[in-house]
Amino acid sequence: MQTKVWKKSDNTEEMKEAIREAAELLHQEQVVAFPTETVYGLGADASNPSAVQRIFEAKGRPSDNPLIVHVADRKQVEQLVDEIPTMARKLMETFWPGPLTLIMKSNGSAAGNVTAGLTTIAIRMPDHPLALALLRASETPLAAPSANRSGRPSPTTAEHVYQDLDGRIAGILDGGPTGVGVESTVLDCTSEIPVILRPGGVTKEDLETILPTVMMDPAMINEQHRPKSPGMKYTHYAPEAPLWLIDGDDEFFENQVEKLKEENFRIGIIASEELLNKLDHNRIISCGSRENLEQVAERLYGALREFKESDVDVILCEAFPETGVGAAVMNRLNKAAVKKVTAY
Ligand code: TXA
Ligand code: MG
Repeated sequence: MQTKVWKKSDNTEEMKEAIREAAELLHQEQVVAFPTETVYGLGADASNPSAVQRIFEAKGRPSDNPLIVHVADRKQVEQLVDEIPTMARKLMETFWPGPLTLIMKSNGSAAGNVTAGLTTIAIRMPDHPLALALLRASETPLAAPSANRSGRPSPTTAEHVYQDLDGRIAGILDGGPTGVGVESTVLDCTSEIPVILRPGGVTKEDLETILPTVMMDPAMINEQHRPKSPGMKYTHYAPEAPLWLIDGDDEFFENQVEKLKEENFRIGIIASEELLNKLDHNRIISCGSRENLEQVAERLYGALREFKESDVDVILCEAFPETGVGAAVMNRLNKAAVKKVTAY
């Protein structure tokens, strides 16, 4: 399949035409990648099972992992659920459009493979002009997982999507690099106390400004629990070379580097600017300042894609504080890592 790329352009007429063409392909049961404020999504008409099936095929995604449905407005939510819980209503007012996905009881109108047979449905309104324009032009909610091959880091540029899915999807709308960098927070609103199933762009601290109590899914803290979000059980975000997560002070990190160098390992490093300045090494990617976790989140997936198997034997990555969006960063790094080396 030929993958059409609509290049990012400042010309609004050109972008309008791109949106029109992309919406037309969606109507023809094709899948199209588009930017959101978090990561690029791979969209298909959420009411059409054959279109949705193409998402699973293009990504190589297990069919028991449900998709997030993207909407342009509140009306489209009402098409998908019979009742919007009061809590969800409040959250929509505050955080939509934005990186917050709400799990509610489905009314069964979305294609069955969108929810992978669950009675609940995940819905969000993305905060990106191209995503919203595409949703409006296609006149249907769009099921859209991150636009990467299953298991790989999520794409934060159109180029990342191209690397993973060229020839496998109908098109890619290029909107430049995404802003948040990690995916949306997935919040289960079907129980009395809302539960974070996946930490993301809207932080627990943000949610607690609106809700009295927010819980973390026990499966995220204790590996013996079964995750309620099916996607959380799969290998994820894996770079080409094995990633070791190093949790200790800067001196501890330096010692790990030295030890591996003595054993002739070719090492790639992902680290904060602060740590990078203390290391004498040439294969280092900076994620920005550890004082600025929004910046770390924004650069994380790009960094994970940077090192090639042919260049390094192992990637050493610094552990970041788990406050704010740091919780999402560390959730993804813990999943990406094959090994954790901790000083504590
Ligand atoms: O920021 C994002 O959320 C991006 C952009 C494209 O919107 N999308 C994204 O989708 O990250 P995906 O498919 O990569 O992750 C969706 C997560 C998975 O962990 C999935 O298991 C969970 O949401 N999920 C979807 N429907 C669910 C449901 N009904 N109950 C529990 N978890 C659900
Ligand atoms: Mg994903």
